[in-house]
Amino acid sequence: MLHPVPASTRAKSRHASEGLVIFGGTGDLALRMLFPSLYFLEDEGLLPPDLRIIGTARSDLEDAAFAAQVKSAVQTRAGDDFSDETWARFAPRLRYAAVDVQDAAAFSRLGEVLEARRAIFYLSTSPALFGAVCQNLQVAGLVRDDSRVVVEKPIGRDLKSCQAINDTLASIFTEDRIFRVDHYLGKEAVQNLLALRFANTLFEPLWNKASIDHVQITVAETVGVEGRWSYYDDYGALRDMVQNHLLQLLSLVAMEPPASLDPDSVRNEKIKVLQSLRPITGRDVERNTARGQYIAGVADGRSAPGYADESGGDSSETETFVALLAHVDNWRWAGTPFYLRTGKRLPARSSEIVIQFREVPHSIFGGVDLMANRLTIRLQPEEEISLALMNKTPSLEHNGMTLKPLSLNLSLSHAFKDERPRRIAYERLLLEVLHDNQTLFVRRDEQETAWRWIDAIRHGWDHKSTKPSPYPAGTWGPSSAFALIERHAHSWCE
Ligand code: BG6
Repeated sequence: MLHPVPASTRAKSRHASEGLVIFGGTGDLALRMLFPSLYFLEDEGLLPPDLRIIGTARSDLEDAAFAAQVKSAVQTRAGDDFSDETWARFAPRLRYAAVDVQDAAAFSRLGEVLEARRAIFYLSTSPALFGAVCQNLQVAGLVRDDSRVVVEKPIGRDLKSCQAINDTLASIFTEDRIFRVDHYLGKEAVQNLLALRFANTLFEPLWNKASIDHVQITVAETVGVEGRWSYYDDYGALRDMVQNHLLQLLSLVAMEPPASLDPDSVRNEKIKVLQSLRPITGRDVERNTARGQYIAGVADGRSAPGYADESGGDSSETETFVALLAHVDNWRWAGTPFYLRTGKRLPARSSEIVIQFREVPHSIFGGVDLMANRLTIRLQPEEEISLALMNKTPSLEHNGMTLKPLSLNLSLSHAFKDERPRRIAYERLLLEVLHDNQTLFVRRDEQETAWRWIDAIRHGWDHKSTKPSPYPAGTWGPSSAFALIERHAHSWCE
């Protein structure tokens, strides 16, 4: 969307030679997402011709053994889309450097593999290692004025720790060379929100409190936390999902039209939304938030253990579900509720934004129930946009009309059949890093403003003696989530 690359300029790099160094190069994120994404970019001719891709991790590995690991991960992900021809072009780019990030000497070896290329350092490691990596890169003379760094969440677990990480990054890289990933911003459907809102005149005049009754944003997962228990238990759904993905979605839905797609134009508008979020404090913590933890139940048709059972016996007060009522206190949205909800082990994998319009001011259809218009933007599993409208049921009744809500449906996978379905969000993000475009990356002030809002809620929870309410796996969360929305005479769209 942001940088369509015309075929004629494909494979022409703006920079003569570049090196993408992936710290955590044999880790889960790298093998499941980053390398397959790079492979798909290769397939489409979008990688700079002499881009070298260097995986680093602690263990000693030959280049060939590393390439074999990458190949198997790419094959798993690509399935029938795997092509030997593309692989033959991609494999020669791969190198491996064993780097213990605490060992300064190892970084000079990395320098040898990089061979004076302009570098992008992708830190796909625990943030606890960011400091050591950055420092040692600098000591080894690998950071140049044109080097960039890409960092993955979690960037901290509260405002203070986030600021400490950001300070470390800022001591080595200027803000315009720091790319903070929120992978939701790489999803086609999320970028399409900008197109829906700002490439059409239809919705914008209605996109405000006068016409919109409320907004719902749901990111529901059927999976549990499984192998990620120890990470997750330290974070919970509020920090893991709401602080980043849900607040990014909310910002894109609520923001004012940016002047252009420039990184700062878009991010300036998003941050104004975050700054307008009413802090949830005091009694509002109880009224406007609900949290839950899954217990054993049935998910995806199979019996599923409870969260605490997955820990190997430890009990925990970490939430795996959270629902919130947020208010954006500005002229456009004052008084419009934004309901946010996310959780693990819910009945369906479904992420959607529902814009619920107001009811007609007066019905001329007698006692017929009129359903208010509703725009649903489905992000996953399929990308769809649907608009529910009231219609007359065809009939020869003479006494009034029978009406029924019907949907105008736009199925994006159907409309763009020739496109590879379910692209990996990282394909777009890596391409944007290679093109030096920060529009889809989170700016420091955005991230810290989001943490400030989240910290207030966490603080409120910590001062209450209540724990997350249990909900059976395979259900839509605890009853408190239903009470939260019903208190305002609304209900969750399922
Ligand atoms: C990650 C969270 O950021 O997003 C995970 O850490 C979550 O807990 C994942 O499962 C969801 O991403 P997606 O793209 O599958 O919706």
